[in-house]
Amino acid sequence: MTPQAYYTLSDYDLAVEAVRARTSVQPKVGLILGSGLSSLAERVENADFIPYNEIPRFPQSEVAGHRNRFVAGTLEGVPILVMQGRIHYYEGHSMQAVTFPIRVMQRIGVKVLIVTNAAGGLNPSFSAGDVMLITDHINFMGMAGVHPLVGRNDEALGERFPDMSDAYDPQLCEAARQAARAHGLTLREGVYVGISGPSFETPAEVRMLQRLGADAVGMSTVGEVTVARHGGIRVLGFSGITNMLVKSEQSGQPVSHLEVLDIGQNVIAPKLESLVRSVLKTLHY
Ligand code: HPA
Repeated sequence: MTPQAYYTLSDYDLAVEAVRARTSVQPKVGLILGSGLSSLAERVENADFIPYNEIPRFPQSEVAGHRNRFVAGTLEGVPILVMQGRIHYYEGHSMQAVTFPIRVMQRIGVKVLIVTNAAGGLNPSFSAGDVMLITDHINFMGMAGVHPLVGRNDEALGERFPDMSDAYDPQLCEAARQAARAHGLTLREGVYVGISGPSFETPAEVRMLQRLGADAVGMSTVGEVTVARHGGIRVLGFSGITNMLVKSEQSGQPVSHLEVLDIGQNVIAPKLESLVRSVLKTLHY
């Protein structure tokens, strides 16, 4: 469980110091790898591995399919800090704890965050195995008060009322579209809605989320992106559609975490690797 609900600059900087002590990489890009999508971390060159449980104040995660360490190194020549496994709210952490790693990225000098997740498909034109470019999100939990920026605001980290009109950077979205075209990959686009989990959605909840305008649903990302934008980090996001929640596509099968991991590893991760590598080549920071 979370050691504390609120953190201060000194907590973040203690963690940053510990990361710096373990790697000489000065990361400009952060990459969060979602459920079943962690293989890209193994491709990082000159990698230093920093387990979360060796970083002071860092919240701990235990979800199957997550390695729970930072991988610092280079990918396509870009100095990068990869999260091989993220922290989830449904594990019992506060939203401040869930987003602690984003503050570490901010304080260490990350300018661009690439966030990935496994998600359920709500848009009936999608299929399991698709990759969706996140063009916007609905912070369903945040709008109901479970928001990482609730509490005292530290101006050294960001402003009290951060703008979220361009949460997903239009230029980075365009780079992703071009990368998809270059690789002949179908790239879906849409709105991600973040819910708490850990239960998957009932049919009534699926209909509600569709009516709210969401194309994909998952249990992460929105808090991290909100904190990244608060901290002035540009964001690019991809959802791997591991399962369809729309009835006609479901063929009566319940959703399972194993299915999420399997489609993530075998179908989605290779596509994401191509997209991320191509975008990295275009980055200016
Ligand atoms: N719902 C919520 N989160 C998910 C799903 C889902 O169907 N699939 C993968 N993550």
